[in-house]
Amino acid sequence: MSVHARNTRLTVPQLVAMKGQRKIVSLTAYSKPMAQLMDPFVDLIIVGDSTAMVAYGRASTLDLSLEEMVAHTRAVVDNTRLACVVADMPFGSYQESPELAYRHCAQMLARSGCDAVKLEGGKALAGTVRFLVERGIPVMAHVGLMPQYLNLMGGFKAQGLTEAAARTIQEDAHAHLEAGAFSLLLEGLAEPLARALTAASPMPTIGIGASPGCDGQVLVTEDMLGLGGGHLPRFVKVYADVAAVIRDAVERYADDVREGAFPEARHCYGLPSPAPVNSEKRPAKAR
Ligand code: KIV
Repeated sequence: MSVHARNTRLTVPQLVAMKGQRKIVSLTAYSKPMAQLMDPFVDLIIVGDSTAMVAYGRASTLDLSLEEMVAHTRAVVDNTRLACVVADMPFGSYQESPELAYRHCAQMLARSGCDAVKLEGGKALAGTVRFLVERGIPVMAHVGLMPQYLNLMGGFKAQGLTEAAARTIQEDAHAHLEAGAFSLLLEGLAEPLARALTAASPMPTIGIGASPGCDGQVLVTEDMLGLGGGHLPRFVKVYADVAAVIRDAVERYADDVREGAFPEARHCYGLPSPAPVNSEKRPAKAR
């Protein structure tokens, strides 16, 4: 059952207004099927640059072009009508200068139709956030574990575990809020820190590996569906084993084809056969 009372896409101001009212439910999507299936149930879809690793099998999120992110985001926007859609800006597309960031973020909004962009970075990026927001681009600021900073962090590690590290992340979050970010994405943070950031923030926090105290929660969809493969971070809860369903279907298909059990006469054109398969569901033209 859909959880949405409304019949239109959730806007950024409506998402902000959910803070303190009810939890914000979020998942990632990169393509039509996932986006379409989750749209009735989630408030926020993040087209994460995790697509580099999840959809393309690349080693990190650093290897992704603006063209690729625009194409994935457009597929998600075109095939949803309820969830607010936020697009990750790829590595190298916004760090150099506020002007370059504006050019690329404006392209993302105009060409994909997304509602907002997400940028990873500490307080050094707050000037860019302000530049974008003042020019009409809503920004979600991603702090804590920032996968685009993999090489500086020396791996995907929880952040804010010492007092000094926690203070730095608090300063980062504060600077982004001051600059006009409409939301904070908190990834891989010590739980008390994420809880404190949420309590101090007038804008909603979305957590992943952060705290149940965040205003919202996101997971990488493939991870929670058992499609992630390999090592999963401890913050992932797996809700289904879709990989097993796919393996089973593909194995049965392969067996059928090898044994001549598929296609049958009813799957063929120009042969006497019973009513066409699922004729009531098919459009008139042959598929
Ligand atoms: O790239 C990604 O999938 C993310 C998630 C944390 C939303 O940034």
